[in-house]
Amino acid sequence: LLPQEIIRIKRDGGVLKQQEIQRFVDGLVDGSFSDAQVGAMAMAIFQNSLNTEEKVTLTTSMMHSGDVLSWEGYDRPIVDKHSTGGVGDKVSFMLAAIVGACGGYVPMISGRGLGHTGGTSDKLESIAGFNVQPTIPQFKKIVKELGVAIISQTDNLAPADKRLYSIRDVTATVESIPLITASILSKKLAAGLDTLVMDVKVGNGAMMTSLEDAQALAESISSVANNAGVKTQAIITDMNQVLGVTAGNALEMFETVQYLTGEFIDPRLHTVVKSLATAMLVNSGLALDASSAEKQINNALDSGKAAEIFDKMVAALGGPTNYIEQPWAAMQKANVIVDIKAAQSGYLAQMNTRDIGMSVVGLGGGRTAPGQLVDHTVGFDAILPLGEKVTSGDVIARVHAKDEAGAKLAAEQYLGALSFSDAKPKLAPVIYS
Ligand code: URA
Repeated sequence: LLPQEIIRIKRDGGVLKQQEIQRFVDGLVDGSFSDAQVGAMAMAIFQNSLNTEEKVTLTTSMMHSGDVLSWEGYDRPIVDKHSTGGVGDKVSFMLAAIVGACGGYVPMISGRGLGHTGGTSDKLESIAGFNVQPTIPQFKKIVKELGVAIISQTDNLAPADKRLYSIRDVTATVESIPLITASILSKKLAAGLDTLVMDVKVGNGAMMTSLEDAQALAESISSVANNAGVKTQAIITDMNQVLGVTAGNALEMFETVQYLTGEFIDPRLHTVVKSLATAMLVNSGLALDASSAEKQINNALDSGKAAEIFDKMVAALGGPTNYIEQPWAAMQKANVIVDIKAAQSGYLAQMNTRDIGMSVVGLGGGRTAPGQLVDHTVGFDAILPLGEKVTSGDVIARVHAKDEAGAKLAAEQYLGALSFSDAKPKLAPVIYS
């Protein structure tokens, strides 16, 4: 089974046999598919898709490409969430801390930036010393002690996805329903979960730009996961603007701290967090119904327990012991921070969110080649939401950059990604279903 022959079948719209998919997954792990061949295969799948059987085979082969975790002896539900990716999407941090505080075990295996979207693991690495790749025994120990650990894929967890993901990131093969399904679920099934909540983002900053495609992705993920025995609910949420007020690794970590301590809570972000946390608590049996889930969520935040758990997790994974109190002591700031001012008056009507995500990548906050180092300091903050009325010259965001030239370009890109209207715009709902 030569790689080029397998690629050829999919390139021509054929259906791959089980052993051909297995050969591809083996080739991802042992290197017998070169980067070029993996990229070509990803593009062939992107163009010609996979049927349900192929998708299930790809997902389970990738899941079994490394260790599959078992949580025997853990006496509370093993519950997690995963997002299809967005810009400014820092929801995982809040959710893990809240659900951990409410009694769940949350062993979260997160991704790196993908295409224009940011990655949870990259964001965590903004914190000095934070190790997103502990050994599995360390990972399990932290989950047992604190209820929560957020890590990256280790070399042994779904290694096939790890390589495929890094190549998709730089080959314009990200937005594919079968590839996203297999990527997410290979990791989540390998993590040995009881319950999964999927945040399927929709809009111009999401992998799926139309509601129809988002629904198809939600259905694809739910059906493959439920068939594999993991109770899964997909919730479709809006990504037609940056989520929260920051986009960029360290800046998003700072917003997370402000959220957990109650210093600043963006309302749209809060709506998404509450909706997903409610589903995690109810579906795992940690809460009886939505209203008791809501009480538990409020209590986890108001009591400071969620913040405390997050703080302890940071320390347990190699970060400082007082991160929540002094986040900037453990993170670097950008060299240049510049206000972005509205060039006209009116309502902020639309945001080309994907362009803003790409602008963060352009600043150095994401990758343009597999394995590249990212600049954690760069991005945007003080982002005003859509629907806000501004006067020409008002500050609508700030750019954080390595140098003046980068800041100037990113500020131009930011302004180019916005449109204004005279009348108050009608905004998309935050939660679709
Ligand atoms: N998150 C993942 O882990 N994989 C994808 O393909 C998209 C989002």
